[in-house]
Amino acid sequence: MSRPVAVYGAGGHAKVVADALLLTGVEVIGFIDDDPALEGDRVLTLPVHGFAWLRERARDVDVAMGIGDNRVRALLVRRCREAGIGLAGVVHPAAVVAASASVGEGTVLMARAVINADAVVGPGVIVNTSAVVEHDVVVGEFAHLSPGAVLAGGSALGAFSSLGVGAVVLDDIAVGAGTIVGANAVVNRHLPDDVVAYGVPARVRRQLTPTGATE
Ligand SMILES: CC(C)(COP(=O)(O)OP(=O)(O)OC[C@H]1O[C@@H](n2cnc3c(N)ncnc32)[C@H](O)[C@@H]1OP(=O)(O)O)[C@@H](O)C(=O)NCCC(=O)NCCS
Repeated sequence: MSRPVAVYGAGGHAKVVADALLLTGVEVIGFIDDDPALEGDRVLTLPVHGFAWLRERARDVDVAMGIGDNRVRALLVRRCREAGIGLAGVVHPAAVVAASASVGEGTVLMARAVINADAVVGPGVIVNTSAVVEHDVVVGEFAHLSPGAVLAGGSALGAFSSLGVGAVVLDDIAVGAGTIVGANAVVNRHLPDDVVAYGVPARVRRQLTPTGATE
């Protein structure tokens, strides 16, 4: 029997995470948000609490990450770890994961996500609705594949990088760390760390600092 889970975040992504957990039979007991104005609100009929509420229940309640922003998600995972709160992964019942694939701690796989043979998906990653991680792909920690994004066989997505809705990375192509790939882009050449790239074919359009801000 899994422990009850609170979902960190109270926005749209958190709702989808909660829904996936409920469908797998996990008891979701509420949402956690750092905005005190949201405390006492209800999302999907469940209450929103502050972090102090969760910390007091660290021995009884796990947390799942319902935060889309990669860097904020990583910070909150660290905060929860330091408070001794267990991290729950999320695998929607309609996600498909190959027996030979590996999926890291706290990673979220949404409906119709596919993780194919020998793929390695790091911790804290989001593989969103209908996104595909093909065979032999490596996805770094706290990366995000938006709905419908595809990493073709042997490609790679660096830590903290994001693929926009419907973006495609062709086979054996690597996207660096901290990079943002725009919606519907087709990435047919390697992309470096910390850039924004979009278009068909995808081209680097601007540079980011390693913290995700524009230089
Ligand atoms: C690529 C992206 C990050 C660029 O954001 P940005 O740097 O703020 O860029 P802007 O919105 O200022 O647009 C700059 C130019 O690029 C164009 N552009 C933006 N995104 C584009 C895309 N995905 N493909 C093609 N052109 C795009 C804009 O139309 C604009 O063109 P213009 O200068 O001729 O008017 C963003 O548009 C995007 O695609 N984000 C992904 C969103 C997503 O998938 N979210 C899913 C969450 S689950």
